[in-house]
Amino acid sequence: MIFLYGAPASGKSTLGRALAERLGLHFVDLDERIVAEAGMTIPEIFKSRGEAVFRDIESKALKEVVSGLISKLQTSNFKLSTPTVVSLGGGTLLRDENRSLCEESGTVFCIDTPSDDELARRLGAAPGSRPLGDRAKERAAHYASFPNRVAAFFDAQSSLVVVGRGIAPAVLAGRNVVADETVARLWSGRLGVSPFATIPSGEEHKTPVTVAKLWRAFAERGLGRRDAVAALGGGVTGDLTGFAAATWMRGIPWINVPTTLLSMVDASTGGKTGCDLPDGKNLAGAFHFPKLVVIDADFLETLSPKLVADGRAEMIKHEAIGGAESPELKVESCGLPSPREIAGNLMVKVGIVREDPLETKGRRILLNCGHTVAHAVEKATGYRVSHGEAVAMGCVEEARIAVRRGLAPAEWPDALASRFAAAGLPTTLPDGLSLDRLVPLMRGDKKREGDAVVFALPCGWGDVRGVRIDLSKESL
Ligand SMILES: NC(=O)c1ccc[n+]([C@@H]2O[C@H](COP(=O)([O-])OP(=O)(O)OC[C@H]3O[C@@H](n4cnc5c(N)ncnc54)[C@H](O)[C@@H]3O)[C@@H](O)[C@H]2O)c1
Ligand SMILES: [Zn+2]
Repeated sequence: MIFLYGAPASGKSTLGRALAERLGLHFVDLDERIVAEAGMTIPEIFKSRGEAVFRDIESKALKEVVSGLISKLQTSNFKLSTPTVVSLGGGTLLRDENRSLCEESGTVFCIDTPSDDELARRLGAAPGSRPLGDRAKERAAHYASFPNRVAAFFDAQSSLVVVGRGIAPAVLAGRNVVADETVARLWSGRLGVSPFATIPSGEEHKTPVTVAKLWRAFAERGLGRRDAVAALGGGVTGDLTGFAAATWMRGIPWINVPTTLLSMVDASTGGKTGCDLPDGKNLAGAFHFPKLVVIDADFLETLSPKLVADGRAEMIKHEAIGGAESPELKVESCGLPSPREIAGNLMVKVGIVREDPLETKGRRILLNCGHTVAHAVEKATGYRVSHGEAVAMGCVEEARIAVRRGLAPAEWPDALASRFAAAGLPTTLPDGLSLDRLVPLMRGDKKREGDAVVFALPCGWGDVRGVRIDLSKESL
């Protein structure tokens, strides 16, 4: 059982309903039940009978919901796919007995309290007002005492994205999980999950052979059209599991639980799935949006600093696209990013994907910022340079191309470089490599139109431009 808790207007019912729908679970809104039973609204109960009586009614309703569901669960004919998501009232767990009841019978996700401005917007109050008065402040410590937190949730095309901490175990419970081998070793115990299939770690396994192994595992598991699979791992696991799901029985639903920073801020949303071929990376693939993406920042704890830096490279790319000064994109460049920072950063990609979900309108090209050079660097070095490092080098080189073409001020590449350097990323090409040596590799880039390559050149914070350059005629 998943309980959603948080301040009034924090989105408990909206998230509860959406989560239950994506997970195929029942949904119960405690406030709605109370209102239906009492025949009056909650403010009316407060006014006519007082808060203490309301809390008694609420505690009784909660007991009924929980005990009703537990007794149903204990009857043999009740299918285990029927557990429930319950959205609670804004103060339901102020009573210790209620808190214990919920924590013993399920997991409580507490949604972070939105800012006063956001609350005012949601409640239709005047901008600048404090719609909850002092109440939100008084309860801040209470809400903060719940360890499983949801920092943000939003739609990304047809996916519901939930970002927080400590939320993956409850979401993965009872699911058909495909996991990266390393992640399974590090996290299975803590998550209480046993994957039915594992994927060997590393890009070298992102092949049709692994996809075929997954199909085999799906067959053995007896997965049908209505069953969902959950991917637990980095971008390789998400891409492979999503592709196997896209093609199994012509498409079954899937849930993505990314465990690397790169897959959290980049690979998990956007609907691209696939595998590599000897002829090139990601050549076989399909658009297949996951129903649900669960970004749980707890997974970052076991990442190496190098893998964190790789993810940071894509975050800085998003800053270049979205404008590093925008409040949502303000990120500390050291330590592990918080769920709120991840959510804000991810919104840059989500915003672009929403406008151009299937890459037909040219908008998604912006996400390729720095990547034309980066892919060439990866190829030229036999993939010894990691993707994040190549993106850092690529963005800076492409910023220099923008300057040479009169599209950016002279100081811009150094400003961008210092942001990457602060995250521990290299910003100059490896010894022996030059832009000229990379040109033949860039001419084979996927983002090519005839002889021309379409670059997404970073020209300033919040200013990335799609530029066609004919590499057979023009120098960089
Ligand atoms: N679908 C998309 O839109 C999209 C976008 C960007 C990248 N990608 C793809 O994503 C892949 C790169 O993603 P990645 O960097 O996550 O690679 P990855 O999946 O190979 O993970 C990198 C390494 O981290 C390990 N790992 C994963 N989670 C861990 C954790 N919590 N703790 C410790 N180790 C952990 C893995 O075992 C692996 O060795 C590439 O194949 C790329 O093509 C896809
Ligand atoms: Zn990338």
